[in-house]
Amino acid sequence: MIPDDVVEEVRARADIVGVIGEFVQLRKAGREFRGLSPFKKEKTPSFYVIPAKAFFHDFSSGESGDVFSFLMKHRGMSFVDAVKHVGARSGVDVREVRTGRGRDDPWRPYHEASEYAASFFRERLWEWEGGEPARAYLEGRGIGREAGERFGLGYAPDEWGAFREAASVHGLDEGMLLELGLLKRSEKGGEPYDAFRNRVIFPIESVTGRVLAFGGRLLGEAGKGSPKYLNSPESPIFHKGEVLYGLSWARNRIRRDASVLVVEGFMDVVSLAAVEIRNVVAPLGTALTESHARLLKPYATQVRLLFDSDPAGQKATFRAADTLLREGLHPAVVTLPDGEDPDSVARSGGAKAVRGFVEQAMDVLDRKIAMLEERGYFESNLKRIRARDKLLPTLRAARDPSLRDIYVTRVAELTGVRTETLLEELKVAPAPLRGGRAGPPRRRRPAPRLHGHGEERTLLLLLVQDRGWIDKAVERVGPSDLEDAAYRVIFEALAADPELLAMPDDAMPEAVRRFERLMADPETLASPAQVFADAVARIEANRIDRRLEVIEREIRRAGTGEQVRLVRDKERLMQEKRALSDDGRRSARKLLALGRTREQGDDAE
Ligand code: GTP
Ligand code: MN
Repeated sequence: MIPDDVVEEVRARADIVGVIGEFVQLRKAGREFRGLSPFKKEKTPSFYVIPAKAFFHDFSSGESGDVFSFLMKHRGMSFVDAVKHVGARSGVDVREVRTGRGRDDPWRPYHEASEYAASFFRERLWEWEGGEPARAYLEGRGIGREAGERFGLGYAPDEWGAFREAASVHGLDEGMLLELGLLKRSEKGGEPYDAFRNRVIFPIESVTGRVLAFGGRLLGEAGKGSPKYLNSPESPIFHKGEVLYGLSWARNRIRRDASVLVVEGFMDVVSLAAVEIRNVVAPLGTALTESHARLLKPYATQVRLLFDSDPAGQKATFRAADTLLREGLHPAVVTLPDGEDPDSVARSGGAKAVRGFVEQAMDVLDRKIAMLEERGYFESNLKRIRARDKLLPTLRAARDPSLRDIYVTRVAELTGVRTETLLEELKVAPAPLRGGRAGPPRRRRPAPRLHGHGEERTLLLLLVQDRGWIDKAVERVGPSDLEDAAYRVIFEALAADPELLAMPDDAMPEAVRRFERLMADPETLASPAQVFADAVARIEANRIDRRLEVIEREIRRAGTGEQVRLVRDKERLMQEKRALSDDGRRSARKLLALGRTREQGDDAE
């Protein structure tokens, strides 16, 4: 048997379209997916999957239900097997159920200890005399008892052994409490002591409301050795990249509104709740991960990001947006005035003020475009090409086909690049740049490449050594023209920040290494102009090769009408390639111009 809340967690995380899509060919139709009934023979599709409701319905047979009942009805699985099947696909570990006999969950003592700790802290906050400063603190931040109790807030006394003592009387195992991070031991060994002291406690719950861990906000000022916020460490029951604070409580509202607000901190979630804005969650002091996105997916497609407006917050916002896009969600960005966070806006202006900002949320692509516009990116052709390169990662990330169409059209209009060209660039485009899940499987050329990535390395070496070339390179080469993923990441980073001296810590590790290697490379490039022209021409030729490969594959698959168009494209590319090898290095620049006039010619036909 599987405990109910594990079942619920699997259900909440399940990608119902993905699971059912393994057995039924589904097409998106508005907010739903449609296919031929897997239960009854039919010619017109009347089988629907409704991801927002985590539900399927088959009009021809009358069958309906959730992801589990689909597997039971269609695959004849038992309930337990269905849960395991889905669990395995949504990253929920249901093995623990198998190992324990009956309803025994091996982590049960950990959950019980955490529940106990939560009740201990709660009691100290509301019932204990010494909890007065914490109550006053919360009151001062606009959080009354009702909102506080809703989130199970507590207070960890300003003592070294209060919790340890109580837990010991309660009979809890100290080793386990150390593992949970509720107790700590100094490096020199010695007696364990309370990890949380003089802090307002925010219990961190699973989707189903089980306490997994704690966050603690220091009363008063942070200092050395006592950070403002302290979170439980990773433990057997807590993986912070997989938990969203507030979700257990907010999820019904999120489902109802079909929209979720993602904020930065505990305090933001709780103070928004205190003014009755309830569809709010926060990652736990980390970047938004793919797991986070998958947690949200069963409840809402629209995700509004409400992070700090400082540069770090902006970076985090766009990164989070790309992660969400990759999971097929639709991110929008809410901008708050400088120096404000959701908590401060809620306190000074109440729900109305917050809603005012939230209503002005901008789709992430529009937000990026607005930022580029502010910086004059659409004032010249040269800059427009660079703008395209900056927008490409967002287009590439967008998994939802209809959203991607909208994006491509928008960027095409803005930059004057044809949609076909953009689409082709997206096609040859690589897997996501940062760790995320790979896009659709990309066929690699099996034959060994003669040139390796020599020209890509050479170009980047030049750019790193002489930053003046970066602008010229960006004008001629888009990141997607580079075949090597690490070099591509480096190229994008240099284009964004020509003065870059080190890759960001969370960039692709291989890119971090290669960048360091480039920076340390003692090789001196004799005639930079020649090196530049040479490398760019070869990269251009590689790009043409890759496009040819794609087109050939498409020709094999396409219908007759389509084939004619494709063959014409192929001929055009062959011509370009011939021109490239005829004229050699000198012609790269001319070729680009040539390619453009030809494209315009095609349009006129
Ligand atoms: P207040 O100062 O209480 O209003 O909090 P805030 O929500 O404005 O805090 P901030 O924007 O500084 O932090 C947002 C989130 O980042 C917090 O909820 C924490 O999860 C995390 N965080 C902030 N400071 C620390 C810290 O010192 N250590 C750790 N581990 N996390 C932190
Ligand atoms: Mn704050």
